[in-house]
Amino acid sequence: MNSDTLRIRAAGPLRGRVRVPGDKSISHRALIFNGFSAGHARIEGLLQADDVRSTARCLGELGVHMDAGQVLGCGGQLQGPEGVLDCGNSGTTIRLLLGVLAGQSFSATLTGDESLCKRPMARVIDPLTLLGARFTSAGGVPPVTVRGGPLCCQSLRSSVASAQVKSAVLLAALQGEGSLHYTEPRLSRDHTERMFAAMGVEMERHVDDNGEHSISMAGGQGLEAADVVVPGDISSAAFLMVAASIVEGSVLTLEGVGLNPTRTGILDVLAQMGGSVEVVEATTSSGEELGTLKVRASSLQGTVIGGSLIPRLIDEIPVIAVAAALAEGETRIEDAQELRVKESDRISATVGFLRSMGVDADETPDGMVIEGLGAGGSFGPARVEAGGDHRIAMAAAVAGLRGRGETWVGGAHAIQTSFPDFPRLLETLRD
Ligand code: S3P
Repeated sequence: MNSDTLRIRAAGPLRGRVRVPGDKSISHRALIFNGFSAGHARIEGLLQADDVRSTARCLGELGVHMDAGQVLGCGGQLQGPEGVLDCGNSGTTIRLLLGVLAGQSFSATLTGDESLCKRPMARVIDPLTLLGARFTSAGGVPPVTVRGGPLCCQSLRSSVASAQVKSAVLLAALQGEGSLHYTEPRLSRDHTERMFAAMGVEMERHVDDNGEHSISMAGGQGLEAADVVVPGDISSAAFLMVAASIVEGSVLTLEGVGLNPTRTGILDVLAQMGGSVEVVEATTSSGEELGTLKVRASSLQGTVIGGSLIPRLIDEIPVIAVAAALAEGETRIEDAQELRVKESDRISATVGFLRSMGVDADETPDGMVIEGLGAGGSFGPARVEAGGDHRIAMAAAVAGLRGRGETWVGGAHAIQTSFPDFPRLLETLRD
């Protein structure tokens, strides 16, 4: 055992009130958009974790001034960086910054850690090249060099429902001539659209009969700085929601959780499975819905998860799979091939750790099939390697709460990416 290994044992119910850390997607956007804007903004509740630090560090190297929750925008003109920009583990940092840098008059090289350097960048490089930027990268993975240039907006259709791709294109369009029409096959999280609206950008959003979503906007619009109050991250809350759902006698109250409908698929799935999550207070702040959730332990049923639900819970699938492994009957997860290109191949990593804990689980090309152990079931003792993936580390730790022996989670430092307080909370919330 070393400090990088979490050791989890089954224990008493989880009880208490928790405020989960700030939403990661909104934190990145609050820094990048305000850093690129004309003006000065205050950001409250910013996530203090490695991914957001990567964004802040890169913006600093691009000449943006940030201090104690305040950001001073560069008015659309960043400074060429002196060295290579290190985006760490963060896909959102590299992809959104590529969109910003596509329209700047200098070149920059962006890279990241071992995991990020395996993730596909062609999905942003291709549309940004069509708008007029130039890129070099070996094999379509970081490091990527971008040479910004005069951009010309046009009609673009993405084959993936990805908010990172959509946001990169919208950031580039702010610096282009003409008008942009962007279509995605299903609606991905819409924090960019909402924050752009608060920053004075005009756009039209449209849904087709076949479920495709599109955005039309004039290029060349500036961003006005806007204060942001960042809600709690539902993707972090998800680990505690599942933990409380599967440990008998638990009652957890999670305060100030972001409830943007493009992110609340986990609430729908837990309801579908017979879980008990109640929204007890709901409000809106900085253009985003949020509320307090009361979660109680319950016996769960297997279910089918696919289609337009997938982008609404993509990051929650590893921990939903843990809930499914303790449900009655089979759970099928479909249409989730995007999981293969996250911080790890999360289909293979999730099925791998569940199997090592004695669950009958199988990979499919676009998801997995899990045979639940049932309400009285428990996981066998296991050693799980997080493989550099924060959500795999936390999902395996949650499973450990229903382990027969001890569950070891190696590579637990990955949790610093999004939810540094998670290991402590898991200890303190248990009787
Ligand atoms: C994110 C979008 C999603 C998500 C990621 C954060 C964002 O990725 O998985 O954790 O902040 O835009 P994709 O856009 O690739 O689906």
